[in-house]
Amino acid sequence: MKLDKCLTSDNINQNLLNIQYAVRGPIVQRAMQIERELEKGVVKPFDRVVRANIGDCHALGQKPITFIRQVLALAACPHLVSSVDVPEDVRQRVKEILGDCTQGSVGAYSPCTGLRIVRSRVAQYLQKRDGVPASPDDIYLGSGASDVIKAVLTMFVEDVDGKPPAVMIPIPQYPLFSGTLSELGLRQADYYLEEEHDWALSVEELERCWREASVDCHVRALVVINPGNPTGQVLTRRNMEQVVRFAYERGLFLLADEVYQENIVSKRFHSFKKVMHEMGAPYSSMELASFVTCSKGWAAECGLRSGFVELVRVELKVSAAFNTARGVMQCPTVLGQCILDCVMKPPSPGEPSYEQFAKEKRLIHQVLTERTETAYKTFNTIPGYSCNPIDGSMFAYPRIEIPSRAQEAAAELGMTPDEFYCLRLLEETGVCVVPGTGFGQLPGTFHFRTTILHPREEFRYMMEAFKRFHHNFLDNYS
Ligand SMILES: Cc1ncc(COP(=O)(O)O)c(C=O)c1O
Repeated sequence: MKLDKCLTSDNINQNLLNIQYAVRGPIVQRAMQIERELEKGVVKPFDRVVRANIGDCHALGQKPITFIRQVLALAACPHLVSSVDVPEDVRQRVKEILGDCTQGSVGAYSPCTGLRIVRSRVAQYLQKRDGVPASPDDIYLGSGASDVIKAVLTMFVEDVDGKPPAVMIPIPQYPLFSGTLSELGLRQADYYLEEEHDWALSVEELERCWREASVDCHVRALVVINPGNPTGQVLTRRNMEQVVRFAYERGLFLLADEVYQENIVSKRFHSFKKVMHEMGAPYSSMELASFVTCSKGWAAECGLRSGFVELVRVELKVSAAFNTARGVMQCPTVLGQCILDCVMKPPSPGEPSYEQFAKEKRLIHQVLTERTETAYKTFNTIPGYSCNPIDGSMFAYPRIEIPSRAQEAAAELGMTPDEFYCLRLLEETGVCVVPGTGFGQLPGTFHFRTTILHPREEFRYMMEAFKRFHHNFLDNYS
């Protein structure tokens, strides 16, 4: 008998049907549809859609770092090295990287963990950052952090003592985690960040989460996102020590998503690796996976897909298995690895590219500082909005009050109140943000996440749009 389709929604891996990723979800789909309608001349109360749904700085107009792009261009076309006018340190960098590529070509596969030269530079960077030894052998390059986060989470897909595995993740969280756990069939154990204490991470809440999940699961790992996405909070060192002690006492593997470590405007970033080291035995011997990406920080090269995990103190047979699994995927893109090389070792004072690099980096940081301050202030002047101070990342995650009549209207449409709010915001102002449901929030509270790095005029428009829209929304539904 011939089937119509071999693959159907009934017989595909059912885990795929459970994946949700609101950052590119229904509101964003509707935004794309609106863009097409505007192109066709449909009249709207606005003339363009403002995409504030995704942390993609180049998509918001941030200019690439010149040094990075010059290295990339010449790494891709080495025959131009002697004919184009670029600073000498660019030429030197290209020579070094290509010297480590098979046949001097970025078109050749690299080792599955990444080029040796790049992993060595990563190790040097980490060592300088933390004052703790780092080894290139513990570094695995990936096609963005998402790639290596998934690869690490895959290692926990195994029942222990007859119980299914679970992973603790913060709420709110970046939905790469919930989506990947769904895909891998891993149970998600939610611990809530404390909004009333600047999104701090309470050990009592970690304990509650662990206890409840342990009834029918074996909790194997704890994910911490620091600086937070969507919250923008930077954990205090004391808070991090509490987390480390908790993970140790409960025998949990710590996954530290530290991708926003260069996007901080206030507070000091401490890596979990450094904190564990400084806490001494037994914490300094704990296993740890820490993630970094070129999609964030000042490089923000999201589209070129480059990041890494530092996987420390894992059993030898575990790293060997991880290595083999990475090998099956060949290697992350070598051009992406070139970017990582530049990020880990940017031009330093005295080098020909330094002045321009420093200027470009300063500007990027100024924009982040200005936008976080303005977003924080603006949101806290809108009645019914509240927003914690934003220490970093590139987002704001304000809390919004949604009147009960609007909640009823949402229910009639089969939507959550925050989805309804974001959809109305999009339809009336063209501003596309992501509802809090996509990141998780305490039941009964409502939020949205907005990117804040738009060009100045667009950013002003957004801030005005939030105010105006909320005012009208309250008029309509109070
Ligand atoms: C907290 C966090 N982790 C990981 C990632 C993955 O980034 P990429 O795969 O582009 O490196 C992102 C992207 O937005 C993120 O916000």
